[in-house]
Amino acid sequence: MYRRTFAEINLDHIAHNFEALKQAFPQAPFLCPMVKANAYGHGDVAVARCLEQVGAKHLGVCLIEEGLLLRRGGVKAEILVFRGFDREGAEQMIQHNLTPVVASWDQLEAIQEVAKKAVGIHLKFNTGMNRLGFHPEEAQDLFEACWQNTKIRVQGILTHLYNGEDAADALGDSAEQLMGMEHVISVFKPLNPVVHTLNSSGILSHLAARAGKQTSHPLMRVNWGLRPGLMIYGYNPLNDPKLLPLKPAMTLKSVASTYRELSAGEVVSYGGTWTARKESVIAVVPIGYADGYHRILSNKAQVLFAGQRVPVVGNICMDFLMLDVTEAVKNKNLKDFKDQEIILFGQDHEGQVLSPEELAKHAQTITWEILTSVGERVPRVYTGSWAKKLGVEI
Ligand SMILES: Cc1ncc(COP(=O)(O)O)c(C=O)c1O
Repeated sequence: MYRRTFAEINLDHIAHNFEALKQAFPQAPFLCPMVKANAYGHGDVAVARCLEQVGAKHLGVCLIEEGLLLRRGGVKAEILVFRGFDREGAEQMIQHNLTPVVASWDQLEAIQEVAKKAVGIHLKFNTGMNRLGFHPEEAQDLFEACWQNTKIRVQGILTHLYNGEDAADALGDSAEQLMGMEHVISVFKPLNPVVHTLNSSGILSHLAARAGKQTSHPLMRVNWGLRPGLMIYGYNPLNDPKLLPLKPAMTLKSVASTYRELSAGEVVSYGGTWTARKESVIAVVPIGYADGYHRILSNKAQVLFAGQRVPVVGNICMDFLMLDVTEAVKNKNLKDFKDQEIILFGQDHEGQVLSPEELAKHAQTITWEILTSVGERVPRVYTGSWAKKLGVEI
């Protein structure tokens, strides 16, 4: 690693989050952590292997390519592929023992064309997201197409919540989606499939509904299967830490590589959008928008520098950003800050936290995008006892 910019991933935290979820839902009929998009930026093979070791029997990816990568990395758990596929994709999935999530009649046909024996599938229903899936009204026709079909074995049925944050509200969008699934469940009952619906916000809402003893709530009427994504990585989309204690896994780090002493009136970076109002000290940090630290954070975000929050000043460049560290280094020798560690988000050695949620607010986006944006050229460095056990520690 010539450039000391990296994402530190604590695998013990991922194991903790998964185990906390298992404990909260010991009766869950299906628990499928989502490791798509490079495990939300955390590195899919290492995360999948860790989850597998702590008991994950199912994992979810979007692309067939992601599933193949996990298989090449030695992952043995059942892998569900959510994006859809054509005939060639169906062949690849069958060959590599990946489980298709079928969302259209074309896909169902593609599987039957290439299958030599029964293929286990999950059927996806569109209950309001209007992205992928069969209409619930197609459930009966689908059931008849699959019932006693020697090429198809329906193992699961599912839908996806589009507004899971409202799931605790018995009159909300999610409750309506869940009620839409109750008809599908009754049609498929003879095949006894698992039913999975809840993403992180749905899962946490379930805990809230449970705490409120809302027994007639649609969240509580069915033993829904779980597909946690964000929460596995330690972030709570409902922002209520009491619901489940989660531990954020990623810390994005770099070092201050150069310091510049500016006179009042001098500017920083492209476009000169920041001007020193007094004599100032600027730290140059080798991470930029090509590493996923979005340019929109220019002149808005802060980072952790030697235990203090300092502002990002001037426009973020492709490979660098600049910090105003004037106050943090005041009356100190700049030489003492050579290669000073910078936390872009995550936790520093003193336990101070700067969250990706905070960055997401500045960037007018969501935590998911901040995490999955961390670029390919940022090495993932694994820590914790699981890193050691899996042999992925640096
Ligand atoms: C089909 C499906 N299930 C589950 C998830 C997990 O969602 P979250 O990260 O909000 O838990 C996703 C993520 O986008 C998804 O597409």
